[in-house]
Amino acid sequence: MYKILNAEKLSANVFLMDVEAPRVAKHCLPGQFVIVKMDEVGERIPLTICDYDAEKGTVTIVFQPAGASTTKMSELKAGDYFEDFVGPLGQPSELCHEDIEELKKKRIVFVAGGVGTAPVYPQVKWLHEHGITADAIVGAKTKDLLILEDKMKEVCNLYVTTDDGSYVRKGMGTDVLRDLVQNQGKEYDLCVAIGPMIMMKFVCLLTKELNIPTVVSMNPIMVDGTGMCGACRLMVGGEVKFACVDGPEFDGHKVDFDLAMKRQQMYKTEEGRALLKLQE
Ligand code: FES
Repeated sequence: MYKILNAEKLSANVFLMDVEAPRVAKHCLPGQFVIVKMDEVGERIPLTICDYDAEKGTVTIVFQPAGASTTKMSELKAGDYFEDFVGPLGQPSELCHEDIEELKKKRIVFVAGGVGTAPVYPQVKWLHEHGITADAIVGAKTKDLLILEDKMKEVCNLYVTTDDGSYVRKGMGTDVLRDLVQNQGKEYDLCVAIGPMIMMKFVCLLTKELNIPTVVSMNPIMVDGTGMCGACRLMVGGEVKFACVDGPEFDGHKVDFDLAMKRQQMYKTEEGRALLKLQE
């Protein structure tokens, strides 16, 4: 059993929990995720790791309720338990494998959309701890949906934008990136985009035009999280990849986003799920 030590609401519809999971915390690296189960019969829910503390043995998760299970999960309080908390799963971010001195020469920009700020945070924090300050563009629909602003400010150069202009500036993350590169003379060697698939698709279209290599973190439907069920299948550079074991990070310029979004939609209905099963 894994105890919830702290549970908070970060915005209208985004929740954060610190969970006691020492073995997971000890092995975590930025870019990875966990799968949790609330009780024996509960659904397996893949969740982004937002932070971890190996000394305290805690892992911080951030999520946005999207169905019955995550809505039920948002009602859990400090002192409640998860039946299962499996991880860290997936491959750590490529950044963690690079030579630090080489990495210091790179100019890196992150583009986060909505709850995608949560998986961006451990990456910019990790870079900051290694003496690298990246730029990060965080976009939210409205001011109320912006999360982790203060924490992000401590570890990167933060640019905030809101779709409706209710805070800082009006526009999408892609508008800010275009502005930084084309009007403010910024140059980048790498872009990391994390957020809704449609947002990552448009970031990739822009970075292709701007000639900036781009990594995205894919968030397809996952079931087992171990490469067995095929639910998280994606096409990347014409090859079949499983987000749970080969990713979740991929070369964004090679990902077939249209197919990935179609599969995500199909999983929303019983009929679509049955159809996908036949195609596996
Ligand atoms: Fe089953 Fe990835 S979640 S193969």
